[in-house]
Amino acid sequence: MQVPGDIVYARKRKTRSKSSHELYDPSFVSGIFDRMSKTYGLTNLIASFGFTSRWRRQCINDLPQFNTSGTGYDFMSGMGEAWPEIQKRVNADGRIIAIDISTEMNRKAAEHIDRLKTKNIELKQVNVLDNDIPSESADFVISTFGIKTFNHEQQQVLANEVRRILKPGGVFAFIEISSPKASVLHWAYMIYLNTFIPLIGRAFTGDSETYRMLGRYCERFENSRFFHKCLIRNELESTYKDYFFGCASGVYGRK
Ligand SMILES: C[S@@+](CC[C@H](N)C(=O)[O-])C[C@H]1O[C@@H](n2cnc3c(N)ncnc32)[C@H](O)[C@@H]1O
Repeated sequence: MQVPGDIVYARKRKTRSKSSHELYDPSFVSGIFDRMSKTYGLTNLIASFGFTSRWRRQCINDLPQFNTSGTGYDFMSGMGEAWPEIQKRVNADGRIIAIDISTEMNRKAAEHIDRLKTKNIELKQVNVLDNDIPSESADFVISTFGIKTFNHEQQQVLANEVRRILKPGGVFAFIEISSPKASVLHWAYMIYLNTFIPLIGRAFTGDSETYRMLGRYCERFENSRFFHKCLIRNELESTYKDYFFGCASGVYGRK
């Protein structure tokens, strides 16, 4: 007879045994965010103790100067968590095009636009790694917490897309949750990823496994250094930055 504990164990085994190929399959990733969409905003805020909103602000402040009435992209835009900060950097003539693969995150993003005073935001549901964005069309590209679900090969493709899409002189900034180097912080980070986040996920959704997956992506991602190298290989001027002792890391720069 199967008892509930067996079901949980079987589910865990199923996600643990996901091959690296499946883990980074865009349709698998978009399914995770479809499931998380109902609770993402609140759990994100609680589980990060408010750090993620501070890091978003810092990342967008790090974006170098650009034409404020220009057009730019918010990659992996989710429900538009970064828009309030981006809107401070563009004027009412500026255009923000939000790119996200998940149907449910985009649905929530559309509701977010309805609530905004300045509606200079357009949604585009697309896989950023396989997009139809015109070359040299962007004054800026930003992305907050959207690169951990990309493996090295995909990060190379993304860096190449940043170069292709930016106008000459266009600017970029990316930030992602990262694994801190200091051993005490690293230890706390692993407990946070593998125990605390799934518990929060279970408390809010009854689904600890989806949130445990996020931990797996963070653990594998480590930090933004590889992406930084990919950008430099694409002849972009990129600066690497650690935020709060490496608990987040990012890159910013110019084409
Ligand atoms: C952790 S959320 C980040 C949302 C938001 N930017 C923030 O600051 O909280 C990551 C988002 O990336 C999107 N995403 C993942 N892979 C993608 C891809 N290949 N193309 C476009 N969006 C993708 C997911 O659907 C999800 O909404």
